[in-house]
Amino acid sequence: MPIVFWIIAIIALVFCLTVIFGAPYVPSRNEEIKKAFKNLYPLSKNDLLIDLGSGDGKVLIAANKFGAKSIGIELNPILVAISRWRTRRIKNAKIFCRDFFLYDFPSETTVVYVFGDGRDMPRIVRHIEKQAAKIGHPIYLISHAFKAEGYKAEKTHRAYYLYKIKEKK
Ligand SMILES: C[S@@+](CC[C@H](N)C(=O)[O-])C[C@H]1O[C@@H](n2cnc3c(N)ncnc32)[C@H](O)[C@@H]1O
Repeated sequence: MPIVFWIIAIIALVFCLTVIFGAPYVPSRNEEIKKAFKNLYPLSKNDLLIDLGSGDGKVLIAANKFGAKSIGIELNPILVAISRWRTRRIKNAKIFCRDFFLYDFPSETTVVYVFGDGRDMPRIVRHIEKQAAKIGHPIYLISHAFKAEGYKAEKTHRAYYLYKIKEKK
């Protein structure tokens, strides 16, 4: 009994601590992710998608169904372990346990998915602008639930917005 208590307490503590640093874990719905990809951005094998705050890995699993390569960046080590297990058979999916604001995108990055905290959106957009400048081409952003200030959405589908984020140093 005490062991079960400590395991639950540690898991709860990890989830509470990650909330201090960013958005809480609220997963996107599988069907909605697929519809968003179909309606907003035609993902293909030529794409590398990065999910900023990749939770349990469901966005990476959906991206794989369209043949795209994917990278998940997640702060919560428990979710990293779960998502690595869920994507273990997907060769083109990698997950890193780190703060996405400190992550430099690979040059092949074409699209970023984010379902974060509205308050973080300006900083997230700024980070993508800097990464676009570093890799030398614009990056598409699929944002779930939150708009990107200073940008006009190229397309919208329900609570999803597609933006083309330009290179800004
Ligand atoms: C709302 S959930 C979205 C999960 C997944 N992308 C989805 O759509 O199902 C946001 C996730 O971002 C993670 N997160 C928040 N801030 C982060 C940061 N600075 N770096 C890495 N992950 C972060 C949280 O731990 C949480 O799992």
